[in-house]
Amino acid sequence: MSSSYTIRMEKICYSVGGRKILQDFDFCLERGVNRTILGISGAGKTTILKLMLGLLQPDSGQIFIGDLCITNLPESRFMQQRKCIAIVFQGGALFDSMTVGENVGYRLFEEGRLPLPEIERIVLEKLRFVGVGPALNLYPAELSGGMKKRVAIARALAADPDFIFFDEPTTGLDPIGVYNICSLMQRLQAEGKTTLMVTHDLATAFATSQRFTFLHDTRMLFEGSEAEMRGSPISEVREFLKPTDESLFV
Ligand SMILES: Nc1ncnc2c1ncn2[C@@H]1O[C@H](COP(=O)(O)OP(=O)(O)OP(=O)(O)O)[C@@H](O)[C@H]1O
Ligand SMILES: [Mg+2]
Repeated sequence: MSSSYTIRMEKICYSVGGRKILQDFDFCLERGVNRTILGISGAGKTTILKLMLGLLQPDSGQIFIGDLCITNLPESRFMQQRKCIAIVFQGGALFDSMTVGENVGYRLFEEGRLPLPEIERIVLEKLRFVGVGPALNLYPAELSGGMKKRVAIARALAADPDFIFFDEPTTGLDPIGVYNICSLMQRLQAEGKTTLMVTHDLATAFATSQRFTFLHDTRMLFEGSEAEMRGSPISEVREFLKPTDESLFV
């Protein structure tokens, strides 16, 4: 795949139990442009990530990784194609019965492509990158919330993806934990990874992204830079930004 490829959603419609979640949703993630999708709870943010990962199938519309349409692609072909994407799930989604090291190396063990010492080397390198190397042999139950998120990021990094999706990575963390995750995302970006985050945490979004998509009532209501968003005349966007209006706190 070329170094400048995109992940694209075209005219995606998706509903659950007859209720429309997304209608004619278009979205494009270019390599090197870090984005955040914003929207209130229940707007459909996690759904968008799951659609892009092929964990959900749209009712209609198409999703492309590079030039290849992945919608309804056979599983084996699709898995090959989606290796360029990793996700840090909302809540981390670590396997409780596995150690931190086993969690991080899981995908590599499953693939069976690399010798064990090489997998162990990668696992330790990724854990050190996120700052939790000493937790290698602990179980998820022995970790704090912030450590769990960092282990989940290390797991996403293990397969060396081009794109990393972050689903609410800072929810439930204290200010230092939020700062740590933001600076980790910035370091990943400096190393050439492209991040896509979904969140309703505006401070994290503005600290880590260049472009913002606002999802409202099944549709993309806004797409643009932070300055364009702050200057947007769209009433729903203005309402969403209100908590960051410093004049309220004077
Ligand atoms: N399996 C399901 N069955 C029924 N409804 C579902 C299912 N999964 C998601 N939904 C509904 O789809 C909508 C979008 O869900 P989604 O998880 O994408 O929202 P979200 O924007 O990620 O919310 P949050 O910010 O709370 O994580 C929600 O209203 C949710 O209730
Ligand atoms: Mg969600």
